[in-house]
Amino acid sequence: MKKFFCWVFLAVYSLNLAAQDDQKPIEKMKWFDEARLGIFIHWGIYAVNGIDESWSFYNGYISYPDYMQQLKGFTAKNYNPAEWAKLMAESGAKYAVITTKHHDGVALWDTKCGDLNVVKQSPAKTDLIQPFVLELRKNNLKVGLYYSLLDWSHPDYPNKTRTEKRYENDSARWENFTRFNFCQLNELASKFNPDLFWFDGDWEHSAEKWRAAEISEMLKKNNPGVILNSRIQGYGDYATPEQGLPVTRPDSRYWELCMTMNDSWGFQPNDKNYKTPGQIINILAECVSKGGNLLLDIGPKADGSIPDEQVAILKELGRWTSKHAEAIYGTQAGIPAEHFYGPTALNKTGDILYLFLPYKPIGPIMLKGIKNKINRIYVVGNGTKLNWDIKMKQYWSQVPGIVYIDVPETVLDPQMTVVAVLLEGKIDLYREKGQVIESN
Ligand code: GLC
Repeated sequence: MKKFFCWVFLAVYSLNLAAQDDQKPIEKMKWFDEARLGIFIHWGIYAVNGIDESWSFYNGYISYPDYMQQLKGFTAKNYNPAEWAKLMAESGAKYAVITTKHHDGVALWDTKCGDLNVVKQSPAKTDLIQPFVLELRKNNLKVGLYYSLLDWSHPDYPNKTRTEKRYENDSARWENFTRFNFCQLNELASKFNPDLFWFDGDWEHSAEKWRAAEISEMLKKNNPGVILNSRIQGYGDYATPEQGLPVTRPDSRYWELCMTMNDSWGFQPNDKNYKTPGQIINILAECVSKGGNLLLDIGPKADGSIPDEQVAILKELGRWTSKHAEAIYGTQAGIPAEHFYGPTALNKTGDILYLFLPYKPIGPIMLKGIKNKINRIYVVGNGTKLNWDIKMKQYWSQVPGIVYIDVPETVLDPQMTVVAVLLEGKIDLYREKGQVIESN
């Protein structure tokens, strides 16, 4: 009998792996796969003092009552969801993900499942999620809702801080908490019908304890096309690396790097360590090159305004993404790094290769190992045709020559120039180790 179960387990396990390896696109992932840029929004009471979201009380940098005191200062009085959504669309993002509830348990919508929400307990007094969802849709942006599975404020959640536990094992209390989580998730799903749920905090319990399978089922029942990120203990649709840029292409067919603009998720006026627009564009190009998305975070202030530095970054990003749209949206991962010194991407049909130039070239740029005939090379968003020259091509050898492309100073973008190489047919790469002489 044991043996039989072992075999069943192995069969199911290998089926699962096969499904993961399958590179065929999944229909519901289409918009996500084409989006390439999303905006993450960490908005919550932590913006009042400008401190770490939830973790500041969990780690003991502020007492729980003092942390919660911030509710009194959360006014949202300059909140303009129409402007937010417009700015996000202008940045070139195709979706946004907003914190509906962080680990501190403070809900930003008018939840009927509990009292800890900004409608009941803060001067904001209104549902902050509802109008934003409407504005996103008006601007053709997909709607993502961040939801923390763990809730350090809930009276029936086992732990409150790193050192303070409410209980160890108490299935009745855990059951209460689970009911509460299901209630809120059901509310979010039915009220806002998001395109994506962005879970967080799953690390504190197992899939069984969260009842992840049931959560996923419930959300999919509401919207069969809903996408789930990976922080739900194995029930997600895509990988979610955080802060660190993947150096090699992630194994998962779909992935998204979430990243702060400075070093904080929420608004922290003291954190001036912003990445430059150029650095952010570079990172976006790296994600595009590896077939993934960048989910770039902003942290609005407690009054609902977006800090100037963040607006400036989004606007410059918008200038660059609209100019280079054809090399970003709906593209697929580029070619292996050995062929070109910089990020690359391919169009859907694989016959246009985009070369992102991370530096100002001091001579012709170099492309190696392309077997196809090249029909034309032009500067994306500018149209200038570029001259190129092929060196080291022997008529008797299969090894393609090195393509040297002249990129004159006049066509350079102030952040990152992109060059399109139009190939005859689908890209065909030479990946061998060279060839010895056969004739001369
Ligand atoms: C981490 C943190 C959280 C943050 C999130 C964003 O998991 O717990 O504070 O919201 O990352 O990705």
